[in-house]
Amino acid sequence: MSVTQTSITRELFNEVILPIYAPAQFVPVKGQGSRVWDQQGKEYIDFAGGIAVTALGHCHPALVEALKKQSEQLWHLSNIYTNEPALRLAQKLTAATFADRVFFANSGAEANEAAFKLARYYATQKISPYKTKIIAFHHAFHGRTFFTVTVGGQPKYSDGFGPKPADIVHVPFNDLEAVKAVIDDHTCAIVVEPIQGEGGVTPATPEFLTGLRQLCDQHQALLVFDEVQTGMGRTGKLFAYEHTGVIPDILTTAKALGGGFPVSAMLTREAIAQAMTAGTHGTTFGGNPMACAVAEASLD
Ligand SMILES: Cc1ncc(COP(=O)(O)O)c(C=O)c1O
Repeated sequence: MSVTQTSITRELFNEVILPIYAPAQFVPVKGQGSRVWDQQGKEYIDFAGGIAVTALGHCHPALVEALKKQSEQLWHLSNIYTNEPALRLAQKLTAATFADRVFFANSGAEANEAAFKLARYYATQKISPYKTKIIAFHHAFHGRTFFTVTVGGQPKYSDGFGPKPADIVHVPFNDLEAVKAVIDDHTCAIVVEPIQGEGGVTPATPEFLTGLRQLCDQHQALLVFDEVQTGMGRTGKLFAYEHTGVIPDILTTAKALGGGFPVSAMLTREAIAQAMTAGTHGTTFGGNPMACAVAEASLD
């Protein structure tokens, strides 16, 4: 397609972007704190907050400084090398949580994809090749890769793409009896948001989370907390699990982790991490030095 149009307008969206979003009718060009300005210089208060991402506001000076500094030093290495910002961030995340090991990725979906793969891999390699069942909840949301959208379980997001990953069951949220009815020794994981986000802001009750922990322990299943939306201080604690004291086996975080720079992380304990070896999982961009430098500033 030849480019004849030089003006960049909201109308251009309808011509050149995959038609999966319905963005506002103006185009923000600048952000500072909780405000954005459009192409005409009109000022808005940004109540969208980047969908739970810009927790420190737009262009927070500490994040800008971290990005500037890192962008003049080193942009990208891939997983052929490690890098200082990723190691520093991993050290700080493990020091601040239950976890010993971190996998970095670029989005919430990717962190969850890694979490679900790890849960299955750990169970099938360490316990039984038949231990693959994942229990998830009605109105959950875990991302848009095919595995995560299937665990999320909402037909409007997961139907129409052909055969889905199998052995995933959904039961009502906050209903421990429903979980008891489906959990068995073939269950490898229960996946839950401590506060459901996209499905309406619904907190899991402390009794529910405590019950899930007990059921996981009884059946040698892993408890996976999706804290993509609740993580990074957005509930008043660094992670929402700290409110109840129920400790997961795997935790995912993204959104506010980079304050607007794409970065996500999956956290887990040593014994679970050890199920994986070089090559079992990976990503080109995960652990990118710029993303990790910004996330470190955000965490600080
Ligand atoms: C709880 C939860 N998990 C996962 C995701 C997916 O994250 P991403 O859009 O970065 O892939 C979201 C996004 O809204 C979310 O709220």
